[in-house]
Amino acid sequence: MPLNIFKLAVLVSGRGSNLQAIIDSIDREELDAHLSIVISNTKDAMALKRAEKYGIKTFFIDPSTYLNSKEYDKALVLKLKEFSIDLICLAGYMRILGEEVIQTFEKKIINIHPSLLPAFPGLNAQKQAIEHGVKFSGCTVHFVDSGVDSGPIILQTVVPVYHNDDEKSLSKRILEQEHYLYPKAIKMVKENQIKINDRTVTHKTR
Ligand code: GAR
Repeated sequence: MPLNIFKLAVLVSGRGSNLQAIIDSIDREELDAHLSIVISNTKDAMALKRAEKYGIKTFFIDPSTYLNSKEYDKALVLKLKEFSIDLICLAGYMRILGEEVIQTFEKKIINIHPSLLPAFPGLNAQKQAIEHGVKFSGCTVHFVDSGVDSGPIILQTVVPVYHNDDEKSLSKRILEQEHYLYPKAIKMVKENQIKINDRTVTHKTR
């Protein structure tokens, strides 16, 4: 492995389709990065099996073996430091990161969320969108700060919401776009194509 290769960690909790999109993008040589580790907080996450199939190192960090979230976060930070990770990608990671993680890796953690933030943060974003009756929703890749889905926005894709949509059909339409958006955002961060000014992320190439 070249010394200056850009090292990614992906944090997951479940299905791992966004993880798969990142793996595929690296495989197609669209994204020049090394996926060093995949970490899950749930034992049976399908995402772990996906990663294992490609020989990627996986770790299940079991929340039940730590006294509290602070201790859990310490273990997480140690693991990420051990692999000298350049960028941490949350991909369906359903655990709130504590201050220690966020401060240690300031502006080095990004997340994908299935809505047009700042609308519908938190859980069940697609259900929130349907219930609110919006005509458009989408997905957002953003830097992670100490709030819930509140960090500076890197990229967004808009998706229409149709009158006969339910949570499932809307989630599917959004997810298809997530799989394009996330690798694209990672590439922009990796290639240093963005500048962060307070809340605003500007794209140097635009
Ligand atoms: C994705 O839709 C992602 O945007 C969402 O969980 C799903 C994970 O799917 N994340 C959040 O809601 C975070 N707040 P995946 O495991 O197949 O990538």
